[in-house]
Amino acid sequence: MSAQNSVGTSINSLRQMRERKEKIACLTAYDAAFAKVLDEAGMDVILVGDSLGMVVQGNSSTVSVTMEDMIYHTRCVASAVASALVIADMPFMSYSNVDNALHNATLLMQEGGAQMVKLEATQRQAEIVSELSACGVPVCAHLGLRPQYIHKIGGYQIQGTDNDSADAILQAAVALQNAGADLLLVECIPASLAAQITNTVELPVIGIGAGRDCDGQILVLQDILGITPGKTPPFAKNYMGNGTIQNAVRAYIKEVKSGEFPPA
Ligand code: KIV
Repeated sequence: MSAQNSVGTSINSLRQMRERKEKIACLTAYDAAFAKVLDEAGMDVILVGDSLGMVVQGNSSTVSVTMEDMIYHTRCVASAVASALVIADMPFMSYSNVDNALHNATLLMQEGGAQMVKLEATQRQAEIVSELSACGVPVCAHLGLRPQYIHKIGGYQIQGTDNDSADAILQAAVALQNAGADLLLVECIPASLAAQITNTVELPVIGIGAGRDCDGQILVLQDILGITPGKTPPFAKNYMGNGTIQNAVRAYIKEVKSGEFPPA
C-alpha cells in the first residue's frame, strides 16, 4: 500500500510556495529506498523521471523507456513517500494523441500512484493538456530541451537561444498554462528566458539548467550523488562531499531553499 497521505505537498502548496517566494526543491527518484531518503529529508517534489532510461537502465537516451517501466518505478517510489508530491513522466509516444494520453495518465495515477504526470510539450500539446486537466489529471508541462526528441533535434543542446525559438517557448508556456497545466518545468534554456517565463505565468516554474530565477530547481538524483553512469550535465552539482547520501540530499534541499544552488 502507498505511504502517501493527504497532508503532503499538493499543487496548492506549490502555488503557495511560489507566492511566498519559497524555492521548491525537487529531485528524481526511481525506487523506494531513495524515495524514502528524499521524502524524510523534506523534498517537496519527487519526479519519477524517464531519465531512468539512462541512469537506471544504462541507455543513451530516454526514448526506450516504456509505460511498463514507468508504472513499475512510480509504484516503487509512491510506496515509500508520505509527504512529497510524486510526479511521473509520461514516456516517449505515450501521449501522442488525446486517447493514449488519457489512458496512460490513468495508469500512472491508478497503478503507479502518481499525483501528477509530466509530459514534454510545445504549444502543440495544449489540447492534450486541456483534456487531461478536464479529466482531473494534474499536469506538469516540460519545455525547452525535451530529451524525448533527441533523435529529432540531434543533441542535448541549450534551447531558446535565438529570438524566434525563445518566443515559441514563452508562447508555449502561456498556452499550456491556459490549457490547464499545473506546473511548468523548463530545461536547458537561457536564464533570462526562464526568468521571463517565471514572471509571465502564474504557475510554479521548476528549472533545470535554466538559471536561478525559477520558482524551484530539479536535478537527477544520480548527478548529485556523483554516480551517473554517463556524462554528468555541466549544471549539476555533486553533494557527496557532505558524507552520507542523507546529508547530500539535505544539503541540496538547503542550497535550493537558500538560493545558493544554482550559483550565479
Ligand atoms: O526525466 C527526468 O528526470 C527529467 C528531469 C531531468 C527534469 O525530466
